[in-house]
Amino acid sequence: MDLYQALRPLLFHLDPETAHNLAFWLGERACSWPRLPEPRPPATLRRHALGLDYPTPLGLAAGLDKGATLLPLWKSLGFGHVEIGTVTPRPQPGNPRPRLFRFPQAGLILNRMGFNSEGAEVVAARLRRRPAGLIVGGNLGKNKETPEAQALDDYRAAYRLIAPQVDYTALNVSSPNTPGLRNLQAPEALKPLLGGMLELRREMGLEHQPLLLKLAPDLAPEDLAAIVEVAVASGISGLIATNTTLDRGVVAEPLRALVEAKGAGGLSGAPLKAKARGVRRQILAALRGRLPLVACGGLGSAADVRDALEDGAALAQIYSALIFEGPSLIQSIYEGLR
Ligand SMILES: Cc1cc2nc3c(=O)[nH]c(=O)nc-3n(C[C@H](O)[C@H](O)[C@H](O)COP(=O)(O)O)c2cc1C
Repeated sequence: MDLYQALRPLLFHLDPETAHNLAFWLGERACSWPRLPEPRPPATLRRHALGLDYPTPLGLAAGLDKGATLLPLWKSLGFGHVEIGTVTPRPQPGNPRPRLFRFPQAGLILNRMGFNSEGAEVVAARLRRRPAGLIVGGNLGKNKETPEAQALDDYRAAYRLIAPQVDYTALNVSSPNTPGLRNLQAPEALKPLLGGMLELRREMGLEHQPLLLKLAPDLAPEDLAAIVEVAVASGISGLIATNTTLDRGVVAEPLRALVEAKGAGGLSGAPLKAKARGVRRQILAALRGRLPLVACGGLGSAADVRDALEDGAALAQIYSALIFEGPSLIQSIYEGLR
């Protein structure tokens, strides 16, 4: 029996954040089961990317397991990698509730969580007990009250604690829910940020650990090209595209009015698919193979993942589709990819 399908009516009846918390409560119980299944994905799914051997090309995108509490479960469900976070250096509560909205009729999620984080110290301590055999990325952000001009200090503080415990790190400069964060994508701001992070990586002796940058889907084509040049010149290891969109135009009427009525936040899931793919293709064209790209945004089937990989992405990540379809989606993607 598919437990998620059995629980889905209850989970979707509850307020989304309560459902999330209940699912995590159950997930934590599952993590302590003595014999979680050990998936053995076929060797044909293996991928070498970013200097790492991924058992499969599919990972869990950042934002679902912000505190790295369910790593054994993600591993047993068959994800090739998991990006934990966003983790901020100091704990912070995030935005007031309600801040998470589902629209199952469209496979759409609206969120303005605003980096609710237990802080890097707590998450790093948990990561010390992470299961072997799962690639874990640490997605890093800044605290809300930290002025933009001091953002680098925050990323560095989070990096110092998280990087030693993970296989790669990702700088999140693309969440729409921390005021001013996306300004860090501007080339003048990005250059010192990436330079400062790479310097710290070297100081810590982690120069072989991939450092990625996660981008928004709301960048204009000319800005994308400039950002790609800054990223390549900096010497970082790769890009993740994309985060959620602020563009309400991805939602068709009459749903758009309902979404707009819920207020601010980023959109993810099926309605983001075409936009995110368009942005990825622009990035891939500008990259000309100089850096690997991790595809994210609106992926919800084996065909979507295959399209992303055929476009040139090295790996793919999902979030929203997992909420609507449940964990059986992971194996069905692998069956379709074979
Ligand atoms: C509720 C929610 C919270 C998220 N939190 C984060 C986050 O903390 N950091 C981050 O980089 N991305 C975050 N994301 C964005 C996802 O990682 C992903 O980029 C986006 O949802 C697009 O993928 P999807 O369409 O498969 O959901 C969040 C997404 C959702 C739905």
